[in-house]
Amino acid sequence: MEQDCGSVTPERGGRILTQTAPSSLEDQAGIPNTGQRKTATSPTLPGISVKRALPFLKWAGGKGQLLDQLSPHFPKAFNRYFEPFLGSASVYFFLRNNRPQFAATLIDANADLINCFEMVKEDLDGLLPLLRNYQRRHAENFYYKTREQKPASLGRLERAARFIYLNKTCYNGLYRVNKSGAFNVPIGSYPKPKIFDEDNLRAVSEALQGTTLLCAHFSKVLAYAHKGDLVYFDPPYFTETNGFTSYAVSASGRTDFTAGDHKMLERNVADLIERGCKVVVSNSDTQFIRRLYKQSKVHVVAARRYINCNGSGRGRVEELVITG
Ligand SMILES: C[S@@+](CC[C@H](N)C(=O)[O-])C[C@H]1O[C@@H](n2cnc3c(N)ncnc32)[C@H](O)[C@@H]1O
Repeated sequence: MEQDCGSVTPERGGRILTQTAPSSLEDQAGIPNTGQRKTATSPTLPGISVKRALPFLKWAGGKGQLLDQLSPHFPKAFNRYFEPFLGSASVYFFLRNNRPQFAATLIDANADLINCFEMVKEDLDGLLPLLRNYQRRHAENFYYKTREQKPASLGRLERAARFIYLNKTCYNGLYRVNKSGAFNVPIGSYPKPKIFDEDNLRAVSEALQGTTLLCAHFSKVLAYAHKGDLVYFDPPYFTETNGFTSYAVSASGRTDFTAGDHKMLERNVADLIERGCKVVVSNSDTQFIRRLYKQSKVHVVAARRYINCNGSGRGRVEELVITG
Protein backbone atom coordinates (compact mmCIF):
# COMPACT_ATOMS: atom_id res chain seq x y z
CA MET A 1 0.00 0.00 0.00
CA GLU A 2 1.33 3.46 -0.86
CA GLN A 3 2.20 5.22 2.38
CA ASP A 4 3.67 8.57 1.56
CA CYS A 5 2.05 11.29 3.59
CA GLY A 6 4.80 13.82 3.02
CA SER A 7 2.25 16.30 1.71
CA VAL A 8 0.13 16.20 4.85
CA THR A 9 -1.27 19.61 5.60
CA PRO A 10 -3.70 20.83 8.26
CA GLU A 11 -6.33 21.18 5.55
CA ARG A 12 -5.89 17.77 3.98
CA GLY A 13 -5.01 15.92 7.16
CA GLY A 14 -3.61 12.42 6.76
CA ARG A 15 -4.96 9.05 5.86
CA ILE A 16 -5.83 6.48 8.44
CA LEU A 17 -3.40 3.63 7.98
CA THR A 18 -4.86 1.27 10.53
CA GLN A 19 -7.72 1.69 12.87
CA THR A 20 -9.29 -0.17 15.72
CA ALA A 21 -12.43 0.82 17.56
CA PRO A 22 -11.52 3.02 20.51
CA SER A 23 -12.85 1.84 23.87
CA SER A 24 -13.22 3.82 27.06
CA LEU A 25 -11.38 2.68 30.13
CA GLU A 26 -12.15 2.55 33.74
CA ASP A 27 -10.33 4.74 36.20
CA GLN A 28 -6.59 4.15 36.04
CA ALA A 29 -4.04 4.12 38.79
CA GLY A 30 -1.50 6.97 38.68
CA ILE A 31 1.81 6.51 36.92
CA PRO A 32 4.43 5.33 39.40
CA ASN A 33 7.36 7.71 39.32
CA THR A 34 9.80 4.97 38.41
CA GLY A 35 11.16 6.10 35.06
CA GLN A 36 11.91 3.63 32.29
CA ARG A 37 14.16 0.89 33.56
CA LYS A 38 16.08 -1.47 31.35
CA THR A 39 14.44 -4.57 32.74
CA ALA A 40 12.64 -7.16 30.69
CA THR A 41 9.59 -7.46 32.90
CA SER A 42 7.53 -5.06 34.93
CA PRO A 43 6.31 -5.66 38.46
CA THR A 44 4.08 -2.57 38.36
CA LEU A 45 0.76 -4.43 38.24
CA PRO A 46 -0.02 -6.60 41.24
CA GLY A 47 0.19 -10.27 40.32
CA ILE A 48 1.09 -9.61 36.69
CA SER A 49 4.52 -9.64 35.13
CA VAL A 50 4.43 -8.09 31.67
CA LYS A 51 7.23 -7.36 29.25
CA ARG A 52 8.11 -3.70 29.13
CA ALA A 53 8.30 -2.14 25.71
CA LEU A 54 11.11 0.37 25.27
CA PRO A 55 11.73 2.70 22.30
CA PHE A 56 13.38 0.79 19.46
CA LEU A 57 14.55 3.91 17.62
CA LYS A 58 16.91 6.71 18.57
CA TRP A 59 15.00 9.94 18.13
CA ALA A 60 16.04 13.58 18.39
CA GLY A 61 14.08 15.17 21.19
CA GLY A 62 13.09 11.72 22.50
CA LYS A 63 11.64 11.95 25.99
CA GLY A 64 13.29 8.79 27.35
CA GLN A 65 15.49 10.76 29.78
CA LEU A 66 12.65 12.92 31.00
CA LEU A 67 9.93 10.45 31.94
CA ASP A 68 10.46 10.76 35.69
CA GLN A 69 9.98 14.50 35.45
CA LEU A 70 7.12 14.34 33.00
CA SER A 71 5.01 11.67 34.65
CA PRO A 72 3.75 13.79 37.59
CA HIS A 73 2.22 16.16 35.02
CA PHE A 74 0.05 13.47 33.42
CA PRO A 75 -3.47 13.07 34.81
CA LYS A 76 -4.20 10.05 36.96
CA ALA A 77 -7.24 9.12 34.89
CA PHE A 78 -8.22 9.65 31.28
CA ASN A 79 -10.28 7.99 28.57
CA ARG A 80 -8.35 7.55 25.33
CA TYR A 81 -4.76 8.64 24.67
CA PHE A 82 -3.57 10.68 21.66
CA GLU A 83 0.06 11.45 20.81
CA PRO A 84 0.35 13.61 17.68
CA PHE A 85 4.18 13.92 17.59
CA LEU A 86 5.01 10.27 18.11
CA GLY A 87 8.77 10.10 17.32
CA SER A 88 10.17 7.05 19.14
CA ALA A 89 6.97 6.75 21.23
CA SER A 90 8.89 6.83 24.51
CA VAL A 91 5.98 8.44 26.36
CA TYR A 92 3.40 6.06 24.88
CA PHE A 93 5.50 3.03 25.89
CA PHE A 94 5.97 4.46 29.36
CA LEU A 95 2.22 4.91 29.82
CA ARG A 96 1.49 1.53 28.29
CA ASN A 97 3.98 -0.20 30.61
CA ASN A 98 2.31 1.35 33.60
CA ARG A 99 -1.35 1.47 32.54
CA PRO A 100 -2.04 -1.38 30.19
CA GLN A 101 -5.65 -0.67 29.38
CA PHE A 102 -6.36 2.39 27.30
CA ALA A 103 -7.11 3.03 23.64
CA ALA A 104 -4.38 5.00 21.89
CA THR A 105 -4.05 6.92 18.64
CA LEU A 106 -0.44 7.58 17.65
CA ILE A 107 0.27 10.19 15.00
CA ASP A 108 3.34 11.52 13.20
CA ALA A 109 3.87 13.40 9.94
CA ASN A 110 6.83 11.18 9.02
CA ALA A 111 5.46 8.51 6.66
CA ASP A 112 8.51 6.24 6.98
CA LEU A 113 8.32 6.37 10.76
CA ILE A 114 4.63 5.43 10.80
CA ASN A 115 5.21 2.66 8.25
CA CYS A 116 7.95 1.33 10.52
CA PHE A 117 5.64 1.25 13.56
CA GLU A 118 2.99 -0.45 11.44
CA MET A 119 5.32 -3.18 10.28
CA VAL A 120 6.54 -3.85 13.83
CA LYS A 121 2.92 -4.04 14.91
CA GLU A 122 1.57 -6.10 12.01
CA ASP A 123 4.36 -8.29 10.68
CA LEU A 124 7.27 -8.55 13.07
CA ASP A 125 8.05 -12.08 11.92
CA GLY A 126 8.41 -10.78 8.38
CA LEU A 127 10.59 -7.89 9.52
CA LEU A 128 13.05 -9.80 11.71
CA PRO A 129 14.86 -11.71 8.91
CA LEU A 130 15.40 -8.41 7.06
CA LEU A 131 16.84 -6.84 10.19
CA ARG A 132 19.15 -9.84 10.72
CA ASN A 133 20.37 -9.38 7.18
CA TYR A 134 21.11 -5.69 7.81
CA GLN A 135 22.91 -6.62 11.03
CA ARG A 136 25.13 -9.10 9.12
CA ARG A 137 25.91 -6.80 6.21
CA HIS A 138 26.58 -3.55 8.04
CA ALA A 139 29.68 -1.78 6.70
CA GLU A 140 30.41 1.73 5.49
CA ASN A 141 29.83 0.96 1.79
CA PHE A 142 26.68 -0.94 2.59
CA TYR A 143 25.38 1.99 4.68
CA TYR A 144 25.81 4.46 1.83
CA LYS A 145 24.29 2.06 -0.75
CA THR A 146 21.30 1.59 1.52
CA ARG A 147 21.01 5.33 2.06
CA GLU A 148 20.85 5.83 -1.74
CA GLN A 149 17.77 3.63 -2.08
CA LYS A 150 14.48 5.39 -2.67
CA PRO A 151 12.00 4.29 0.02
CA ALA A 152 9.13 4.63 -2.46
CA SER A 153 10.69 1.88 -4.59
CA LEU A 154 10.65 -0.59 -1.69
CA GLY A 155 7.94 -2.75 -0.20
CA ARG A 156 6.59 -1.78 3.21
CA LEU A 157 8.61 -4.35 5.17
CA GLU A 158 11.85 -3.55 3.38
CA ARG A 159 11.20 0.15 3.90
CA ALA A 160 10.70 -0.40 7.62
CA ALA A 161 13.86 -2.51 7.94
CA ARG A 162 15.89 0.11 6.05
CA PHE A 163 14.49 2.82 8.32
CA ILE A 164 15.55 0.96 11.48
CA TYR A 165 18.96 0.12 10.01
CA LEU A 166 19.73 3.73 9.03
CA ASN A 167 18.41 5.00 12.36
CA LYS A 168 20.74 2.72 14.31
CA THR A 169 23.85 3.30 12.21
CA CYS A 170 23.64 6.95 11.14
CA TYR A 171 25.17 9.86 13.00
CA ASN A 172 23.40 10.24 16.35
CA GLY A 173 20.17 8.62 15.11
CA LEU A 174 19.41 11.90 13.39
CA TYR A 175 16.57 11.98 10.86
CA ARG A 176 17.25 14.58 8.20
CA VAL A 177 16.17 14.73 4.58
CA ASN A 178 17.09 17.07 1.74
CA LYS A 179 14.61 19.12 -0.25
CA SER A 180 13.69 16.13 -2.39
CA GLY A 181 12.99 14.06 0.69
CA ALA A 182 16.17 11.92 0.42
CA PHE A 183 17.70 10.86 3.75
CA ASN A 184 21.14 12.50 3.93
CA VAL A 185 22.65 11.80 7.37
CA PRO A 186 26.23 10.45 7.30
CA ILE A 187 27.21 7.18 8.94
CA GLY A 188 27.85 7.33 12.70
CA SER A 189 31.06 6.04 14.22
CA TYR A 190 29.85 2.95 16.05
CA PRO A 191 32.20 -0.04 15.80
CA LYS A 192 29.43 -2.64 16.30
CA PRO A 193 26.02 -0.98 16.26
CA LYS A 194 23.16 -3.13 17.50
CA ILE A 195 20.44 -2.77 14.90
CA PHE A 196 17.65 -4.37 16.93
CA ASP A 197 16.77 -6.25 20.08
CA GLU A 198 14.36 -9.05 19.22
CA ASP A 199 12.87 -9.39 22.71
CA ASN A 200 12.16 -5.69 22.91
CA LEU A 201 10.69 -5.62 19.40
CA ARG A 202 8.31 -8.40 20.45
CA ALA A 203 7.28 -6.36 23.50
CA VAL A 204 6.87 -3.27 21.28
CA SER A 205 4.75 -5.20 18.78
CA GLU A 206 2.56 -6.38 21.65
CA ALA A 207 2.28 -2.85 23.04
CA LEU A 208 1.15 -1.57 19.62
CA GLN A 209 -1.67 -4.08 19.20
CA GLY A 210 -4.99 -2.28 19.30
CA THR A 211 -3.47 1.15 18.65
CA THR A 212 -4.47 3.38 15.77
CA LEU A 213 -1.45 4.63 13.81
CA LEU A 214 -1.88 7.70 11.65
CA CYS A 215 0.47 9.47 9.30
CA ALA A 216 -0.97 12.95 9.64
CA HIS A 217 -0.49 16.57 10.59
CA PHE A 218 -0.79 17.17 14.35
CA SER A 219 -4.07 19.06 13.90
CA LYS A 220 -5.74 15.79 12.86
CA VAL A 221 -6.18 15.08 16.57
CA LEU A 222 -8.95 17.70 16.61
CA ALA A 223 -11.08 15.35 14.53
CA TYR A 224 -10.88 12.58 17.13
CA ALA A 225 -10.28 13.79 20.70
CA HIS A 226 -13.24 14.27 23.03
CA LYS A 227 -13.90 15.31 26.59
CA GLY A 228 -11.89 13.19 29.05
CA ASP A 229 -9.25 12.13 26.51
CA LEU A 230 -5.56 12.84 27.11
CA VAL A 231 -3.48 14.48 24.38
CA TYR A 232 0.29 14.71 24.72
CA PHE A 233 2.11 17.06 22.31
CA ASP A 234 5.89 16.95 21.94
CA PRO A 235 6.52 19.14 18.88
CA PRO A 236 9.90 19.91 17.34
CA TYR A 237 11.28 22.50 19.75
CA PHE A 238 11.09 26.17 19.05
CA THR A 239 14.56 27.65 19.08
CA GLU A 240 15.43 31.35 19.05
CA THR A 241 18.51 30.54 16.95
CA ASN A 242 18.85 28.01 14.15
CA GLY A 243 18.30 24.97 16.31
CA PHE A 244 17.28 21.53 15.17
CA THR A 245 13.65 21.56 14.05
CA SER A 246 13.45 19.35 10.96
CA TYR A 247 11.98 15.87 11.12
CA ALA A 248 9.77 15.31 8.11
CA VAL A 249 9.67 16.74 4.63
CA SER A 250 6.51 17.78 2.84
CA ALA A 251 5.89 17.47 -0.88
CA SER A 252 6.64 21.18 -1.14
CA GLY A 253 10.09 20.55 0.30
CA ARG A 254 9.33 22.24 3.62
CA THR A 255 11.15 20.58 6.49
CA ASP A 256 10.92 23.13 9.25
CA PHE A 257 8.50 23.60 12.13
CA THR A 258 8.02 27.34 12.29
CA ALA A 259 6.85 29.88 14.85
CA GLY A 260 3.58 29.85 12.86
CA ASP A 261 3.26 26.10 13.46
CA HIS A 262 3.79 26.66 17.20
CA LYS A 263 1.07 29.33 17.18
CA MET A 264 -1.30 26.96 15.40
CA LEU A 265 -0.45 24.24 17.91
CA GLU A 266 -1.28 26.59 20.80
CA ARG A 267 -4.69 27.31 19.23
CA ASN A 268 -5.29 23.56 18.87
CA VAL A 269 -4.33 23.10 22.54
CA ALA A 270 -6.78 25.84 23.60
CA ASP A 271 -9.53 24.20 21.51
CA LEU A 272 -8.91 20.78 23.09
CA ILE A 273 -8.91 22.23 26.62
CA GLU A 274 -12.12 24.08 25.81
CA ARG A 275 -13.82 20.82 24.84
CA GLY A 276 -12.71 19.13 28.07
CA CYS A 277 -9.61 17.20 26.98
CA LYS A 278 -6.60 16.87 29.27
CA VAL A 279 -3.57 18.27 27.49
CA VAL A 280 0.16 18.10 28.18
CA VAL A 281 2.68 19.92 25.96
CA SER A 282 6.50 19.77 26.05
CA ASN A 283 8.65 22.52 24.62
CA SER A 284 11.89 24.40 25.09
CA ASP A 285 12.10 27.15 27.69
CA THR A 286 12.11 30.28 25.54
CA GLN A 287 10.41 33.67 25.85
CA PHE A 288 8.38 32.92 22.73
CA ILE A 289 6.92 29.70 24.14
CA ARG A 290 6.29 31.25 27.56
CA ARG A 291 4.40 34.15 25.92
CA LEU A 292 2.45 31.78 23.69
CA TYR A 293 1.19 29.73 26.63
CA LYS A 294 0.79 32.57 29.11
CA GLN A 295 -2.83 31.53 29.81
CA SER A 296 -1.81 27.97 30.74
CA LYS A 297 -0.01 26.31 33.64
CA VAL A 298 3.69 26.24 32.79
CA HIS A 299 6.16 24.06 34.72
CA VAL A 300 9.95 24.00 34.31
CA VAL A 301 11.78 20.68 34.09
CA ALA A 302 15.48 20.09 33.52
CA ALA A 303 16.36 18.11 30.41
CA ARG A 304 19.38 16.87 28.59
CA ARG A 305 19.19 17.66 24.90
CA TYR A 306 21.30 15.38 22.74
CA ILE A 307 21.09 16.82 19.27
CA ASN A 308 20.97 20.18 17.65
CA CYS A 309 22.22 21.15 14.25
CA ASN A 310 25.76 22.12 15.28
CA GLY A 311 26.24 20.01 18.40
CA SER A 312 26.55 23.07 20.66
CA GLY A 313 23.16 22.41 22.25
CA ARG A 314 24.39 19.41 24.28
CA GLY A 315 24.30 19.51 28.01
CA ARG A 316 21.70 20.46 30.55
CA VAL A 317 18.94 22.74 29.37
CA GLU A 318 15.57 23.64 30.79
CA GLU A 319 12.35 22.49 29.23
CA LEU A 320 8.76 23.49 29.78
CA VAL A 321 5.77 21.27 30.44
CA ILE A 322 2.48 23.02 29.78
CA THR A 323 -0.70 21.50 31.17
CA GLY A 324 -4.36 22.21 30.80
C1 LIG B 1 10.37 16.04 19.36
S1 LIG B 1 9.92 14.75 18.24
C2 LIG B 1 8.91 13.74 19.27
C3 LIG B 1 9.76 12.89 20.16
C4 LIG B 1 8.96 11.87 20.95
N1 LIG B 1 8.18 12.48 22.00
C5 LIG B 1 9.90 10.84 21.56
O1 LIG B 1 9.95 10.69 22.78
O2 LIG B 1 10.63 10.21 20.79
C6 LIG B 1 8.78 15.53 17.18
C7 LIG B 1 8.08 14.61 16.16
O3 LIG B 1 7.10 15.39 15.48
C8 LIG B 1 6.99 14.96 14.13
N2 LIG B 1 6.42 16.08 13.37
C9 LIG B 1 7.05 17.18 12.87
N3 LIG B 1 6.16 18.01 12.30
C10 LIG B 1 4.94 17.44 12.47
C11 LIG B 1 3.61 17.83 12.12
N4 LIG B 1 3.37 18.98 11.49
N5 LIG B 1 2.59 17.02 12.46
C12 LIG B 1 2.82 15.84 13.10
N6 LIG B 1 4.07 15.41 13.45
C13 LIG B 1 5.10 16.21 13.14
C14 LIG B 1 8.38 14.58 13.75
O4 LIG B 1 8.39 13.64 12.68
C15 LIG B 1 8.94 14.01 15.07
O5 LIG B 1 8.84 12.62 15.09
